[in-house]
Amino acid sequence: MTQTQTIRKCLFPVAGYGTRFLPATKSMPKEMLPVVNKPLIQYAVEEAMEAGINKMGFITGRGKRAIADYFDNNYELEHEIAGSSKEQNLSDINAVMDNGQFIFMRQREMLGLGHAILTGEPIIGDEPFAVILADDLCVAPLNQHKQKTDTLRAMSQLIDLYNQYQCCIVAIEEVPKEDTASYGIICGDEIAPGIYDVDDMVEKPKPADAPTNMAIIGRYVLTPQIFDYLRETKPGTNGEIQITDALKQVAKEERVIAVKFAGERFDCGSVEGFVQATNYFFEHEFKKSVN
Ligand code: UTP
Repeated sequence: MTQTQTIRKCLFPVAGYGTRFLPATKSMPKEMLPVVNKPLIQYAVEEAMEAGINKMGFITGRGKRAIADYFDNNYELEHEIAGSSKEQNLSDINAVMDNGQFIFMRQREMLGLGHAILTGEPIIGDEPFAVILADDLCVAPLNQHKQKTDTLRAMSQLIDLYNQYQCCIVAIEEVPKEDTASYGIICGDEIAPGIYDVDDMVEKPKPADAPTNMAIIGRYVLTPQIFDYLRETKPGTNGEIQITDALKQVAKEERVIAVKFAGERFDCGSVEGFVQATNYFFEHEFKKSVN
């Protein structure tokens, strides 16, 4: 067996147009929308850091400069609030900035999530890596008393499985059958509770054509071979190069594992999911921090 390679890098594809959240996303990146008082991208980076990752690669596009500015100093603002209690409001993002490295690349044409990941190859090189879609906001599971448990968020769970299986890992969730056309859908054998050896995948199938209701959500651990598969992948659904199509080929020729991760996911690319996430964080994080 080859030696386990640690996952050191995470890609954040953030070049999409965010059309479901217009007009808010007309002139601001969807990933900068705040859930309570923290932008989506910070939750995503913190989840990667919790999983032991410190090199963060962002695949950005035109109109996304606010994301790069967010992970940089703002001397004028810092000077303005220096010595006041407001300084504390920057402590979390400062800790993130101190503990990570942030690399930005532009996707010149929005040719799909698969294409965005392929654009990140120079950042990743020849090692396994994580991918987080910041608009899928994942939280750790709570116990029956709605208290935090020791279980970490989705990315840590995926990396544990990568260490065990040494292959591509995707996070899945059961969705209502009528929603399958919004997701990549998998089918496969359940080899352990909630863990599937994937044998097929289909991107955004109509409910009648969906083999199951197990939907891929925005968390992946990928081996570097994925770049070769992506280079061979033709545009699929919506004319985009889909990561699901590349992974389907990996599942056929190598192996893909899907896991029903523990915890909850909010689809913050939709208004409904965004409001649910806001309520969740207001109840479970914000109110507790100010009390
Ligand atoms: P989505 O399908 O959610 O698209 O992309 P979107 O543009 O962000 O949002 P809607 O559907 O128009 O509202 C999934 C992820 O892939 C990234 C997006 O930024 C998002 O994180 N993406 C998509 C890219 O980085 N580049 C692309 O060409 C397409």
